Amino acid sequence: MSAHPTPSYRRRVLGSLAAGTLLAGVARAHAAGALCGPTGSSTAGPFYVRNAPQTTQINRHGLPGTPMQVSGTIYGGTDGRQPLAGAVIEIWHCDAAGQYHPNGSGELADYLATDVDLRGIGLSDAEGRYRFDSIVPAHYGNRRRHIHWRIVAPGHRPLVTQSYWLEEKGTARERRDFVDRNVEDCRWVRFDTDAAGVAVGRFDIVLVALA
Ligand SMILES: [Fe+2]
Repeated sequence: MSAHPTPSYRRRVLGSLAAGTLLAGVARAHAAGALCGPTGSSTAGPFYVRNAPQTTQINRHGLPGTPMQVSGTIYGGTDGRQPLAGAVIEIWHCDAAGQYHPNGSGELADYLATDVDLRGIGLSDAEGRYRFDSIVPAHYGNRRRHIHWRIVAPGHRPLVTQSYWLEEKGTARERRDFVDRNVEDCRWVRFDTDAAGVAVGRFDIVLVALA
């Protein structure tokens, strides 16, 4: 047997190393959310409506805009690394013209069904995963582009927060927005446009377990 590996042997080894590196990269990407610390909180703002529709397809009346899909995993437990099944996740955001539907607050029952849009409530699945489909919100006022969130899970501190678009981090727009300062990295969500033109983002959320 030769003391030197044959070229084909080297190719096989290098090939498997490359595949191993690739798999490790995928594993890291999937674990990224679990590496976030507790998700920071932010204000609910003036446009929160209680008892929003129980749907994750929240552009219910076909408002115009760029399709958007945001998904992720809800984590918790004492180490913040356990996927939480059955967490209640609520989101709301403005439309492509910067208007909320309704552009107010209160109770769902205060409004006509046709006035309610871009708000909804879903549950995390057995692996802690959730997903919402909507349209990309616009900017309004001095705000960064954002989505509002409220998450409730048994045994954990309820969380109200906002997520942002990574592309706006460090921009003049970010600096003009004083609603939410010192936002941790995990709340700056990267949205990529897929082949179907959908803006796809992943937002993993870490809840704090109650003592
Ligand atoms: Fe808002």
